[in-house]
This record gives sequence, C-alpha cells and structure tokens, in this order.
Amino acid sequence: MGIRVENLRYAYGSKLVLRDISLFVNAGEYIGIVGVSGCGKSTLLKLLAGLYQTQSGVVEVHGACRPEEIRKNVAMVMQNTVLFPASIKENITCGHPMSEEVIWQACKAAQLTEWITSLADGIDTFVGEQGGKVSGGQAQRIAIARAIARNAPVILLDEATSALDGDTGSAVLAALDSLTRGRTVVSVSHRHETLANCSRIYKLEDGRLHSL
Ligand SMILES: Nc1ncnc2c1ncn2[C@@H]1O[C@H](COP(=O)(O)OP(=O)(O)OP(=O)(O)O)[C@@H](O)[C@H]1O
Ligand SMILES: [Mg+2]
Repeated sequence: MGIRVENLRYAYGSKLVLRDISLFVNAGEYIGIVGVSGCGKSTLLKLLAGLYQTQSGVVEVHGACRPEEIRKNVAMVMQNTVLFPASIKENITCGHPMSEEVIWQACKAAQLTEWITSLADGIDTFVGEQGGKVSGGQAQRIAIARAIARNAPVILLDEATSALDGDTGSAVLAALDSLTRGRTVVSVSHRHETLANCSRIYKLEDGRLHSL
C-alpha cells in the first residue's frame, strides 16, 4: 500500500509552491522531509493527508486517491497542537465511539497514564480554552494519543521550522515511537532524534524533492 505521489503540482493562486513532486513510500517505511521555512513542506503533508484537493498529478495514500478516502487512512500530528476546550478524553476520541480499553491503551502508549491518574478529575479533566492548562509536552502527547487511537496505517508528522523550541522531552519521543512503529510515516522534522528513524531523507527545494 504505502504512498504514491507522481508529478504533483500545487499553487496557492498564482504562487506555485510544489512544481513537480514524485515520491514513493513503501508500507511500513519511515521517511523524512527537510527544507527551509516556507518551501512547502506543510503544503505537501496537507495534500498527503487529504486536506487539500490535488490540482494536477497523482496522490495515492494506502490505496486511496480521493481526499475524503485518503483522510480515513491518515493520522496527522503537528508540533503546536491546539486542544479543543473539552476533557482530555474528548480530545483523544474527537467524538468517535471507542472503548475505554482503546482509550487507555492509547494513553499508555503516549506516556500519559501517570499524569492523568494524578489529576483529581483524571481523564475527564477539562483542558481549557486552547488547552491552556496543560504543558506543551502534555498537549503533544494528547495529540499523539488521539492519533494512536485512530489506528490509521499512515502517520504524518509536521514540525514547523519556526518552532524549534518545542518539547523534545523523552516522553514525547517515546510516545512518537509507539505511534509510528510498524506504520508508514512521513516526518517533516529538523530534530536529529526524529530523523534518526528515517530510511530516507529528502530536501524540498524549489518545489521539488531531492534525495539527501
Ligand atoms: N493558505 C495559503 N494561502 C496562500 N499561501 C500560502 C498558504 N499556505 C501557505 N502558503 C505559502 O506557501 C508557501 C509554503 O508554505 P508551507 O506552509 O507549506 O511551508 P513550510 O515549508 O511548511 O514552512 P515552515 O517550515 O515554516 O512550516 C509559503 O510561501 C506560504 O507563505
Ligand atoms: Mg510547515
């Protein structure tokens, strides 16, 4: 299954961002993408996530080509997670019906159990407007638990170039390890720890991918 991108071109209005992208990722493979701020990394990930409609070229993700089908196969984790003003549990399930067992397994894999059980309201703790009551690392791990609970075959990780001060703690890295193990992964990252997992790394430049 994996990912197949061929001759993908994408523009915002008259601003051409992706000129000619071809990329093949085998099922279970972990690849990295680097590039300067504004080169189009998040744009490419959004196309791979089915958040944008292709303008020309092919995007196939785990056998799906239509954006609404692609979305079912993908879980995306961004560095600066914004949580819903709701409980931790609701932030993990996003309203999808799932068993307590699945929710707690996701919490455990995302290194959240100890923290959650230390809270007076546990998993029902309200995380506040814009998730203000939790640290950056905790918010990140809640987003990772959400992605684990979705159980999607393809994982997209987006770390903005401008956010290098994000939480790089060992708990977040362990949570990411649990999320990505055995899955197809495309990771936009500048962190040595994350790129170390990649079997291939590409640089996005002038709207094209170059092997590093
Ligand atoms: N919705 C949009 N409308 C118009 N232009 C956009 C839009 N989103 C992004 N762009 C422009 O497209 C280019 C690529 O943006 P993108 O967010 O993909 O870059 P990036 O490589 O992810 O950057 P960073 O490393 O800072 O996250 C930038 O020049 C940006 O200004
Ligand atoms: Mg970006």
